[in-house]
Amino acid sequence: MAQESFVLIVSDRPDQARDLARGTVRVIASRVVGPGAGLPDDLPLVGLIDIADETEAVRWLGRLNDLRVPCLYLPRTASAHPDTAPHPLGATRTLPTGAVRPTILTALFDLIDAVQQARINQARLSVRASLVQGLAGQAGLVIRGAFEAAQSGEPIRAAEVDAGTEVILEAISDCGIRTWLETISHHDSQLYQHSLSVAGYAAAFSLQLNFSRADQMRLSKAALLHDLGKARIPAAILNKPGKLTADEMAVMRTHPDIGADILAAQGEFDDAMLAVVRHHHEMLDGSGYPSGLAGPSIPDLVRLVTICDIHSALTERRPYRNPLPHDEAHAIMCKMSSKLDLPLLRAFAPIVLRSAGYAGAA
Ligand SMILES: [Fe+2]
Ligand SMILES: [Fe+2]
Repeated sequence: MAQESFVLIVSDRPDQARDLARGTVRVIASRVVGPGAGLPDDLPLVGLIDIADETEAVRWLGRLNDLRVPCLYLPRTASAHPDTAPHPLGATRTLPTGAVRPTILTALFDLIDAVQQARINQARLSVRASLVQGLAGQAGLVIRGAFEAAQSGEPIRAAEVDAGTEVILEAISDCGIRTWLETISHHDSQLYQHSLSVAGYAAAFSLQLNFSRADQMRLSKAALLHDLGKARIPAAILNKPGKLTADEMAVMRTHPDIGADILAAQGEFDDAMLAVVRHHHEMLDGSGYPSGLAGPSIPDLVRLVTICDIHSALTERRPYRNPLPHDEAHAIMCKMSSKLDLPLLRAFAPIVLRSAGYAGAA
């Protein structure tokens, strides 16, 4: 049994305390002390406070709460309301006055269960957090490698991009889009973070739409590399904190063609993926670039990545503006119905909810 797994019974009724201790013996060890005792050196899992003097009871509840030890309180009078803050591992419970032994033991075991469950959940969360951190690190190296290769004219290794895409799909299906976004939010490069974010949305979208594994990979990979052409946009334009001039905008708007041409030259990336990279800034009404494609000439995979790209951009911090909340970004996009695919935007809504932290979103 772990050293801390004991219940600390603080009581001014030694007989009842010993009786309660006997009742817990099959579940958990216990230690009985009087109100004048000091705190034990090792922390109890829970405390049981049974002291007639309310001031003394509140003192014990307070000191145990300070140590994050949840307590069960047995007041002697109906007026006893200990002024203690709710405990994060399960609020301190107060039983009605005159509670009998079975009631006290049931409440105590319930509290122990709640504390143990909370600890298990906490442990699971930290395992998941370190898992997703490792995966984000791997995917970050892949995107950095692809951009550096695109900049220097080295080949972009399709197998490495595949491995990075698989890592993102694994992270999203295991830990969800919100954990992914939180993890990559600390990335030092805004460009790489954006690529990882759009790829995360695309992975979540492909899972939401029950895509085949091949299409999950195709969509997520295209999203990961959609802005690859920015590797060859001058840093002064790419990182300009303010609004771009018309000339600078014209240069910026070359990035989809540059990225698609780089990937096409490799000969290892399929046409559907190249179309995403080349056309992710096209709009349904023909107002986008680089080709001014409209309506049916914009493939579905492109439309999906365009939605992920715009949602990601609106919810990212930029030097000149704060990030928009997820629901606001989605509302803005739903008003762009002449430019974006409205049924697909509706299908994206559960991802928006999950990104905003609504864990129960469908
Ligand atoms: Fe782009
Ligand atoms: Fe983008």
